[in-house]
Amino acid sequence: MNTPKYKVPVSVDLPTRQWPSRTLTESPAWCSVDLRDGNQALPNPMTPAQKLEYFQLLCSIGFKQIEAGFPSASQDDFDFFRSLIEDGHIPDDVFIMGLTQCRPHLIERTFEAFKGVKKGIVHAYIASSDLHMKQVFGMSQADTIETAVAATRQIRELADAMPESDIRYEFSPEEFTDTDQSFCLELCQAVYNAWGKATSEKPLILNLPATVERRPPNHYADMIEWFCANFPDRDSVQISLHSHNDQGMAVAATELALMAGADRVEGTLFGHGERTGNVDLVTVVGNLFSRGIGTGLDFSDMENVVETVERLTGMPVYYRQPYAGEYAFTAFSGSHQDAINKGMHRLDQAAEIFGMQWKVPYLHIDPADLGRSFERLIRINSQSGKGGIAWVLEQDYGIQVPKAMQPQLREEVQAYSEEVSRELSAEEVHAIFQKKFVEPDGPYQLTGYWPRPDDKDPTFIHGEVKVVINGQEKTAVADGNGPISAFVNAMNELVDIDFSVDDYHEQAVGKGADAQALAYVPLKLKDNGVVFGVGSDSNIDQAAVRAVIAGLNRIASK
Ligand code: KIV
Ligand code: ZN
Repeated sequence: MNTPKYKVPVSVDLPTRQWPSRTLTESPAWCSVDLRDGNQALPNPMTPAQKLEYFQLLCSIGFKQIEAGFPSASQDDFDFFRSLIEDGHIPDDVFIMGLTQCRPHLIERTFEAFKGVKKGIVHAYIASSDLHMKQVFGMSQADTIETAVAATRQIRELADAMPESDIRYEFSPEEFTDTDQSFCLELCQAVYNAWGKATSEKPLILNLPATVERRPPNHYADMIEWFCANFPDRDSVQISLHSHNDQGMAVAATELALMAGADRVEGTLFGHGERTGNVDLVTVVGNLFSRGIGTGLDFSDMENVVETVERLTGMPVYYRQPYAGEYAFTAFSGSHQDAINKGMHRLDQAAEIFGMQWKVPYLHIDPADLGRSFERLIRINSQSGKGGIAWVLEQDYGIQVPKAMQPQLREEVQAYSEEVSRELSAEEVHAIFQKKFVEPDGPYQLTGYWPRPDDKDPTFIHGEVKVVINGQEKTAVADGNGPISAFVNAMNELVDIDFSVDDYHEQAVGKGADAQALAYVPLKLKDNGVVFGVGSDSNIDQAAVRAVIAGLNRIASK
């Protein structure tokens, strides 16, 4: 027999499906399973102290449901539950959840761990797929229903014995996406009946996991829509998603399944979890946020979240991780940098043109919403463009390099970046600007220039220029109809370079007594080439003549 090794998963027959034409407009409820599914999959699981810090991080982000562990599975998890409860670490509006198998002694122990809790969710699971029932446990469908119902009755009894606590119940048919759907419905209905006290205020949570991602996301959505449509008491259950990322599509699966009617999402920060992990809640939340949907979760200090999770899990967050990776909002390429630069400068027009406050090329959300600063958005390497380099100098040093000069600056930055074969810091870019444009090496050194207006026509300038050229002091008379043109006339007498200056840019950098003038002067050469020099001085005319000297040195050194 020629049996294939793999086969196409059978899709759900759902010709009435509605989800493809729905749009998400509301946030689901969120449940973090970082401390259970996430922690159990770490090479070095967290210590109790680390778990507590992680728990506090989750609370500060705003999670109201946190699976704190599997209290019947280990003494550490049990003790962790006890310390959360006894030491008062659980905010009043937060439910802690504990996982258990559908086995009497484990359920008993779980309730011991929950003693005194204000709000708790007991989470029981049983494998419902043929694969698990037949190959792992040797159970029939009837056995599985019987076990789940018995467990649920026990949980109900123990929960009823704790009237001072608000105990909710979550049931998971493990491998939901690999389970016969009619059987799964029957199993969940049996559990629902056995629980017997679900209401719309205190619903039974039916968590329908893609324990292993074996199907494309649209199948998950179909299954969820089918389940929602066929579960009789839909208002008294909360349909929860729990997707793993084996095919790298857990975020997509979760979003489509939310469109299909689910109410709640379980996942982890940055997708920690078994194998390729659980769905990454940072991405799902970020996506909804980017569409203007309030999620109730606060990632405005993403740097702290990343730092804390990396430190506690011992696992780095990937550079390109959406919303959180170091490069998530970074542009290296010149055309991207240029477009960001322009978009940022024209942001005030976005509301009128696009009907939204934020619309910037290559940045789908404002990084500042995640506490990321603009300075770090544009990174400089040999691929970087003139716009990006200018952006960095403007952001970090207030230096507004004129457009016409930017290609020359880029050439210098690119040459250096290629030489060192790495990304450059903003300090290095500034050092290149200083060294190549403000104080370039060369034969000319200005020692004095004192321009004064003509006695009769104050627009006409007289003066004397003193320069050292290749170590020799030279002097020339400077006459012209302005201090700069007089200086240029004098320099044309002293040097072999035939140049002129038509106009130039100037700006003030800094404020008050510390303010410095920066002059960007283009020296126009006989062959129509242009070379920029930059001068800095507290006096604007002196800044301009220094810029001329810098430009001449640049020409001479080339
Ligand atoms: O992935 C899974 O199915 C689980 C269950 C325990 C919900 O983690
Ligand atoms: Zn899981």
